[in-house]
Amino acid sequence: MDTTTVNLANVASPAPLHCAISVALRQHYQALSSVHMRELFAADPQRFERFSLQVGDILLDYSKNRITAETLQLLTQLAEVADVAGWRDRLFNGEKINNTEDRAVLHTALRNQSNTPVLVDGADVMPAVNAVIAQMGVFAERVRSGTWTGYTGKPIVDVVNVGIGGSDLGPHMVYQALKDYRHARLNMHYVSNVDGAHIKEKLETLDPATTLFIVASKTFTTQETMTNADYAREWFLQHAEDAAHIAQHFVAVSTNRDAVVAFGIDPDNMFGFWDWVGGRYSLWSAIGLSIVLAVGADNFKALLSGAHAMDTHFRTAPFERNMPVILALLGVWYSNFFGAESHAVLPYDHYLRSLPLYLQQADMESNGKSVDRDGNTVDYNTGPIIWGTSGINGQHAFYQLLHQGTRLIPADFIVSVTEQNSLPEQHDILMANFLAQTEALMHGRTLDETLSSGVTAPHAPKVFAGNHPSNALLLDALTPHSLGMLIALYEHKIFVQGIIWNLNSYDQWGVELGKQLAKRILPELTATSTVNTHDASTNGLINHYRQRRPT
Ligand code: F6P
Repeated sequence: MDTTTVNLANVASPAPLHCAISVALRQHYQALSSVHMRELFAADPQRFERFSLQVGDILLDYSKNRITAETLQLLTQLAEVADVAGWRDRLFNGEKINNTEDRAVLHTALRNQSNTPVLVDGADVMPAVNAVIAQMGVFAERVRSGTWTGYTGKPIVDVVNVGIGGSDLGPHMVYQALKDYRHARLNMHYVSNVDGAHIKEKLETLDPATTLFIVASKTFTTQETMTNADYAREWFLQHAEDAAHIAQHFVAVSTNRDAVVAFGIDPDNMFGFWDWVGGRYSLWSAIGLSIVLAVGADNFKALLSGAHAMDTHFRTAPFERNMPVILALLGVWYSNFFGAESHAVLPYDHYLRSLPLYLQQADMESNGKSVDRDGNTVDYNTGPIIWGTSGINGQHAFYQLLHQGTRLIPADFIVSVTEQNSLPEQHDILMANFLAQTEALMHGRTLDETLSSGVTAPHAPKVFAGNHPSNALLLDALTPHSLGMLIALYEHKIFVQGIIWNLNSYDQWGVELGKQLAKRILPELTATSTVNTHDASTNGLINHYRQRRPT
């Protein structure tokens, strides 16, 4: 059967992974699964040119994947069957594609540099978006210039972002990534963990007279954040004594104005956003306030512009030249046909070391689901386990398993071609390792090569099967613009995969149960009598803790 000539008109099944293209892809997988990438490279000297793509500041080389032109053709047809283009329009047009919460999903409006109207319930959101961006810029300029002072009249030196999940990971990752652009006087700090050690240790190093707190929480009800914010306020008042000083030292980022006011923050010092901004997609909103403070309004705008450039590419490029679509389809290829369980993110850039953490939430909270958008339990793999760390350190930790373990683990290798801060010799070493690892993963080392390389016996453990897929993403340089592009690239990859898996990628009911149970258990930890309202294990653990907890 010529698998590339499936007639789309015959495809009726609502779940893309149950359609005729999927059957064709499975057959194609059978044929390709025993083919080594060494053979594919040997057969096609143009493989790099064929399977690489430059979009703005980013080069993607996806030639070291277990694919042929036919694979991509079939995968692209899968995207067509899934109506990725239609869903993409619904996303950008503000339709309520988050069906379980009846919300639009419009992080793209936050960076809509074209400023064309984006309607939600018939109203254009752009004036409000632009107003908050302007408000952040004015505030940041006052803090950065030193005209916004603390209660003793000194300029702000330290800014503590108190938030968790999307209200922490995005801004924290971007702040680290853009350290070269930061204001010389201002240091950003991020406190997320409700383990008291986190905020206690942090505040021990700070001067309340020159510290500004950003309480960042979409809901302003998250237990970890509100507990840390209460502690920060108490710590501050112990030094400043007068509650009137709170106005100069606490600002809020939230959608919940009433809760912000109840906390005691002046609503003039509140930066708002909207329910159509998902927490893990919120760094482009006022949740990015710490970024604006650190790198200034112009650099924040460049970050937004980079994301907008990727949005435009995603909206307009044909699927076979569309970077987010290609990355998404490759992920589907490995998850649903090769049975890959995980996906590694390996930045070869010290400043991008938190990208894997950020992408864990972005991807796993979005697509870690087993019920589709119509309420059916799925019978195929959905979002992979995202993991990784700084690549060069990973080489000395877990790469052994990538090279010679029993699992197939596709990986994204990410590097900046030029680094302002790196020493040239060191950067060449970094780059050489980046290239060597992707080559070794793909090529491996045959028994013949092992024998002729002069290594001593035993030889079998020194043979590398290779054929491990990887993508190489090369940023011209790590700038606000390229970073914006990179983050938006992953956001859209996640979106496309969610469509192919027929998921609502924008709710997160799975994290709610644990939150509710924690609220129920908290008072039980101080109960005077034995707790027996749970299963035997949970009762046992609660009672063990009750008897030993510090008082
Ligand atoms: O972990 C669940 C979650 O709701 C995330 O989606 C969100 O980013 C995080 O909690 C923090 O929520 P909030 O910004 O409302 O404090």
